[in-house]
Amino acid sequence: MGTKIIGTGSFVPDHVVTNNHLAELVETSDEWIRSRTGIAQRRISDSFGTSQMAAEASKRALENAHVKPEDIDLIIAATSTPDCCFPSAACEVQGILGAVNAVGMDVSAACSGFIFALSTVDAMIQTGMYKTALIIGVDNLSKIVDWSDRSTCVLFGDGAGAAVVRACDENGQGIIGGQIGSDGKKAAVLSCWSRTMGNFLTGKKPEPGYIVMEGQEVFKFAVKKVPECVEALMESMGIGMDEVKYLILHQANYRICESIARRLRISMDKIPMNIEKYGNTSGASIPLLLDELNREGKLKKGDKLVLAGFGAGLTWGAVLVEW
Ligand code: UT7
Repeated sequence: MGTKIIGTGSFVPDHVVTNNHLAELVETSDEWIRSRTGIAQRRISDSFGTSQMAAEASKRALENAHVKPEDIDLIIAATSTPDCCFPSAACEVQGILGAVNAVGMDVSAACSGFIFALSTVDAMIQTGMYKTALIIGVDNLSKIVDWSDRSTCVLFGDGAGAAVVRACDENGQGIIGGQIGSDGKKAAVLSCWSRTMGNFLTGKKPEPGYIVMEGQEVFKFAVKKVPECVEALMESMGIGMDEVKYLILHQANYRICESIARRLRISMDKIPMNIEKYGNTSGASIPLLLDELNREGKLKKGDKLVLAGFGAGLTWGAVLVEW
């Protein structure tokens, strides 16, 4: 039994915020942001919440897959920014879509979330429990960014991406293999805590927190861990990077992607990028890029793709797919 991606979709809010806009808020410049990250602009959601963005991306993925909402039996949403503690974003999407035969739940693995969700769904499909699943990567990070912190606020954007997968019998198609990992000892490197937890004794209400990051530590971790993970995956599958058409990387920083390319001894031609337009959309970045490539007709039957992500946790992971 295999798991095949049969459709993709994505959604980004209309509101474009350029680097020059941010230079009005904090001491930064278009030149600094472009040269250090590759980002020119990002989308910020004014009116759409996480679940609405996720539902829009999901509708497009279902349409692309020619699947009706009632045919989905599993929905997994990867997000760090659900609209509320509960219900889950996946259950909210289920309600919006009318996916009455599905079960919904969220996965929390920050920017690696879509890879974790894809691996989880693949494993669940392998058991025979589910046949058709909707996997969503969505984040509304602008709501947890400290807009006075120039070291983080220039990096992030909002968006959603989704993929529909289905159990298939054909050998060698769909998800060939995957590896995911985490290191909780490095949790403090990238986190978002409630600044003030609610307190029963004092009656204090909880206050939301903001993203706090040691940028260089995340950078060093990403450029070491991602190539290691991809190499280990490829070795375990007996497939060389020369057989891979695209390495679809989490869009966090152009320089991170360049460094990963160097370490894997592959050209940047194999690493599609869209960070310039959207910034780092966290859990959404990989499915958003996958959907762009799919809609541009760049993915052909039989193409081998590696999807790889990294982020808070710390977490990382890679999945090898045959399109
Ligand atoms: O999804 C995973 C999430 N996070 C990441 O992937 C982030 C990974 N890390 C990075 O992408 C990079 O570390 C950053 C883009 C965050 C920062 O780039 P860097 O080359 O590591 O810069 P830096 O932190 O070493 O800072 C260099 C200088 C500092 O000034 P001084 O101390 O040299 O005077 C910073 O204060 O740049 C300053 N700086 C800025 N200047 C203008 C930091 N942020 C900004 C800014 N505009 N926005």
